[in-house]
Amino acid sequence: MRQRHIKQATIENLSSMGVLFEPVYLDLSSYSKVHLEIGAGKGQFITSLAQDFPNELFIAIEMDKNVCYRIAEKKIEMKLDNLLILLTSAETITDWFYPQMIDIIYLNFSDPWPKAKHHKRRLTWPIMLEKYKTVLKQEGILQFRTDHFLFFEDSIDYIKSHFQIVNVNMHVEESRYMTEYEVKKRQLGAIYQVKGIKST
Ligand SMILES: C[S@@+](CC[C@H](N)C(=O)[O-])C[C@H]1O[C@@H](n2cnc3c(N)ncnc32)[C@H](O)[C@@H]1O
Repeated sequence: MRQRHIKQATIENLSSMGVLFEPVYLDLSSYSKVHLEIGAGKGQFITSLAQDFPNELFIAIEMDKNVCYRIAEKKIEMKLDNLLILLTSAETITDWFYPQMIDIIYLNFSDPWPKAKHHKRRLTWPIMLEKYKTVLKQEGILQFRTDHFLFFEDSIDYIKSHFQIVNVNMHVEESRYMTEYEVKKRQLGAIYQVKGIKST
C-alpha cells in the first residue's frame, strides 16, 4: 500500500529519532515479555500497549519510512522507552532476533494481496510463518487480525499447518488496542482474528 510522502521522513531524521534500520541482534534478555508487531503502520496499536505495560518490551517493524516516522513521533511524544522501531522488511526478522526471543507476534490488517499470483507476498504466507516460528518462544503466540474475509480464510489454512490454533474470533469487539486501519474498517463490517500457538 502506497503511503503519503512525508518530507521529514529521511533516514537521517529517523535515525536521530531512534529508529533502527541496520540489522543487529537485539538483546531482549532483560524483559519479561517481548511483543512484536509486523507492518505496524502509524503505530497506534503498539504505542497504546507500550504505554500501558511499561515493564514489557514492544517492537514495531515497518518497512515504509513515511509511516515509520509517524510511529517515531508517537514514541517521542508518549516518552515510550520500552518501544523499539525497526525500519525494515518482515523478511529480515531472523537477522534481528535470535531464535526463541519473542513472546507474541501481531499481524494487524496486513495487505491482503487478493490475486493468487501475489499470495506469496502475504505476511501470513508459509515461508513467513516459518520465520515467525523461529523467533517465537515455545508456546509463543501469533495473532492475526483483518477485515478481509478471504484473506482470513486462506490465512487460517496457512497458520493451522504451522501453529496450533487456539482461538478464532469472527467478531472482534472494539478495544483500547486498535490500529488506525481497524478504527476505519470496523465502521464497514466485522473484524476477524485468529491466534495460533507455537507448540512444536
Ligand atoms: C494495510 S497497512 C496496515 C497498517 C497497520 N497494521 C494498521 O492496521 O493500521 C499494511 C502495513 O504493512 C506494511 N508492510 C507490508 N509489507 C511489509 C513487510 N514485508 N515488512 C514490513 N512491513 C510491511 C506496509 O508498509 C503498511 O504500513
